[in-house]
Amino acid sequence: MTALEAVSDRPATTGASHDEALARDVVEGLTSRPKRLAAKYHYDALGSQLFEAICELPWYPITRGESALLRRESAAILGRLDDPATLVELGGGNGEKLAILAAGLAEQGRAATVHLIDISETALARASRTVAGYPSVAVRGHCAPYADGLRAAVGELPPDRAAMVLFLGSNIGNLAPDEADRFLAAIGAALRPGDSLLLGTDLVKPEEDLLLAYDDPLGVTAAFNRNLLVRLNRELDADFDIEQFTHRVVWNARESCVESYLVSRAEQTVCIPAAGCCVRFAAGETIWTESSYKYRADAVVDMAARAGFAYGAQWIEPDAAFALTLLDAP
Ligand code: AVI
Repeated sequence: MTALEAVSDRPATTGASHDEALARDVVEGLTSRPKRLAAKYHYDALGSQLFEAICELPWYPITRGESALLRRESAAILGRLDDPATLVELGGGNGEKLAILAAGLAEQGRAATVHLIDISETALARASRTVAGYPSVAVRGHCAPYADGLRAAVGELPPDRAAMVLFLGSNIGNLAPDEADRFLAAIGAALRPGDSLLLGTDLVKPEEDLLLAYDDPLGVTAAFNRNLLVRLNRELDADFDIEQFTHRVVWNARESCVESYLVSRAEQTVCIPAAGCCVRFAAGETIWTESSYKYRADAVVDMAARAGFAYGAQWIEPDAAFALTLLDAP
């Protein structure tokens, strides 16, 4: 699996091969020490809805900060695009952020083609509907893992016109540093000289703000995390007692990431028939479910430089402490 593929099946899919991969990953993760479950499995239908709710929470600044930045810097970002403009978005969710740029292009009377890459048909359909309100913007959907989708999109690009890839929402922050390096290098390898990458990254902020963002008072993020177990009960016939697991977040200052865990309230055994295993938990034992890396603005540029990207521009939203960095392809 390439780094591009590692985060590519974030949204839910159904079907035998996906279930087999889920079962395999669950056995591997829950028989490891410490126990872990891959963050990409948060995004079944309910998990995706819960994530959308998280984005609306007053304590979760990423979506608001990034949208504000896209609005504020729309002219500067659009000024970097060729005419007609070509955008390629990796896993754009509901398409709302892309719509900000589409609105800017429409205001300037400019035509554009947008390639949407997502493994989820549902996400693609939603994003396409959101952007469909702008008739001068043509949408091409690629229902595929990032690597395949990017390859397909780049293969369709007019050779004489540069494209801008959007990887927003601090999705890169769910990759460990070595995975993020490989992921960016894989994007760089797929792009052509003249193309660019617009990368959204959440910045380091006070610990109490970070903990509130990932353990909100309404319990939405806790529900998002615990829904992983609901998913395993439904898709793998597991018998997790959801009440027996709590949500915990920890700020790891050394690694600069918020770590999310599910914590077993008691000693217990959980059976997962479709994965062919039973798993024992000690009281207080954790399952690591996600890390959300937070960056210093200059570290984003350094990370991109390691993958061969050159600095183009960087814009920062100070209230949310969020950065958009424009990078020129190797
Ligand atoms: C998708 N990703 C960038 C989110 C994040 O901030 O790590 C997922 C998330 N997990 C809990 N809240 C939001």
